[in-house]
Amino acid sequence: MSPASRVAGQRLSPIRRMAVGAPSGTISLALGEPGWPLPDVARRALAEVGQSAGPLPYGPNTSRPDLVQAIAAHHSCSSADEVMVTSGSQAALFALFQAHVDPGSTVLVPDPGFVSYPSLARLCGADPVGYPLATGGHLDAQALVQTLEAHPQTSMVVLCHPANPTGGMASETDLATVADACARRGVLLVSDEVYRELWVDERPPSLHDVAGVGGGVVLGSMSKAFGAPGLRLGWAVGAAEALAPARIVHNAMTTAPAQPSQAGAVALLTAADEVLTESRRHVRARWETVAQVASALTTSAGSPARPARAGIYLWVPVPDSSLTAADTAPDDPTLAFALRLRDEGGVTTVPGSAFGPRGAGHLRVSLGGALDELEEGLRRLAPWWTT
Ligand SMILES: Cc1ncc(COP(=O)(O)O)c(C=O)c1O
Repeated sequence: MSPASRVAGQRLSPIRRMAVGAPSGTISLALGEPGWPLPDVARRALAEVGQSAGPLPYGPNTSRPDLVQAIAAHHSCSSADEVMVTSGSQAALFALFQAHVDPGSTVLVPDPGFVSYPSLARLCGADPVGYPLATGGHLDAQALVQTLEAHPQTSMVVLCHPANPTGGMASETDLATVADACARRGVLLVSDEVYRELWVDERPPSLHDVAGVGGGVVLGSMSKAFGAPGLRLGWAVGAAEALAPARIVHNAMTTAPAQPSQAGAVALLTAADEVLTESRRHVRARWETVAQVASALTTSAGSPARPARAGIYLWVPVPDSSLTAADTAPDDPTLAFALRLRDEGGVTTVPGSAFGPRGAGHLRVSLGGALDELEEGLRRLAPWWTT
């Protein structure tokens, strides 16, 4: 038996692969998830579901109406038709790609960018084409529009801000430029904003702030700022006609997210102000730990190009002297360095080359995990940048 051609060549995520074979005692600064406790409101909502007598029904295909309303209110949009609740924003991405990307078309993805975007394009039989980012990993609208002009077969453009893996931002001007370029060509713009609420210095703009709900589809999630990745609950907000075909895919895939997850999400959204303030406090503490324990890493990350801190990733250039070929990864010196850090330094990071060719020469260090682990991991990393 051989798998369908659309999955041939697809491999385990490089982030998961770095974990395989890690020596015991290795600290992982690789996974991009919050390591602070699940907020109490969600804990109580989950317990209530467990304690209630009676059936646990499927519920509506479009999810609980109060959850849809809570997401609509969170995004200041007016209609339930503009919200699609999904099993994590990952499922929103899958549904949107399957619904809007034809085989043979092109999907523009950030390079470096979240590893799923190219895979999702290939699963549609489309070609992912990376567009470059500005220094510091910020959105460069001109570079994106040039890439769009060079690829008239483009069916979808994906943005990610604050970015995984670079932590880079998108200015209002750049968002407006990209939205306008996509609208004029009839290309669906998807703005992945799952890290947007995790800001430290200033609140990043949303695509919808500048282009309205018709300007593209915005993704949100319980997994990052709401501190609940295990709920597997996310959403897409956008024009009803952009979401309608994606709903068909999501329904075929999984119907609606699990009822306990929906209950947890309603509780978290109802207490959004307190929950998000607390999450930002956790994130600020992590950025402060970096400054105290491993400032060499932030200096090397180029502070002038990074005026605002947001998200949970540090995007660090590999010291030039360390970028050498090695038997462990003869074709990928960035991976070779990440493996040395793991096996000799006791810290797992993610080699930037995993996020696209332009990510080579960098490492992604996740600040999301438990604070004491982060502190120890950073102590182990710091000497590699200072000697
Ligand atoms: C940029 C980005 N988008 C989407 C996702 C998927 O998140 P979830 O499915 O947990 O909402 C992730 C997860 O790491 C991510 O980093």
